[in-house]
Amino acid sequence: MDIKKRLLRTLIIVAIGLSIGAVIGLVQGLSQQNTATVIDKGSTPVKTASIPGVQIGGPFALTDHNGNAVTEADYNGLYKLIYFGFTYCPAICPTELQKVSAALKQLDEARMNKIQPLFVTIDPERDTAEAMRSYVELFHPKLIGLTGTPEQIEKVKSDYRIFARKVALDDDEDYTMDHSSFIYLMSSENKVISIYRIKDDVKYMVQDITSKIPDTTQ
Ligand code: NI
Repeated sequence: MDIKKRLLRTLIIVAIGLSIGAVIGLVQGLSQQNTATVIDKGSTPVKTASIPGVQIGGPFALTDHNGNAVTEADYNGLYKLIYFGFTYCPAICPTELQKVSAALKQLDEARMNKIQPLFVTIDPERDTAEAMRSYVELFHPKLIGLTGTPEQIEKVKSDYRIFARKVALDDDEDYTMDHSSFIYLMSSENKVISIYRIKDDVKYMVQDITSKIPDTTQ
């Protein structure tokens, strides 16, 4: 499939996601107007952010979607929402990146400004900086796409406990990727403070991020 067709397909998935999100947002907005005092009564969701004894994350050296060499130090002082996937992904990656984008849009400005969303490819062979740039534009203006050499990607995958492997498709040389799907919320000190899974919706993410990031401007 050529890049234009692929991006168009992704755009359609995103558009569907956006319209569903808009309807949910509208319904939530209406119900909040009527039940403003009820909102805070729900208990804050509590979830283990990591598997005990397993270190997630670490320094990285990659290339951003503008072709610049970057490391984790380029995002110093910022919280990070990090997702690993690939631009050819038929459904899961666009859906999860759409969730990141929707969560950022629903957060208050103070918190949103403290977060750097990152999309790291697990398919560096096809996901060049240029491919990443056209792709991340579909989701959020703050989203940065990161790619690298196969060695750099192997390292970051291993440090972030991401499983990914090539799966051959029937037609000739084509392949897809089987991969784990986690959205990591990292602190400004690069520690995992939450992990969002496919089942976690935008509402949950916004609630959790709000509880984990102080709303001060420092
Ligand atoms: Ni995917």
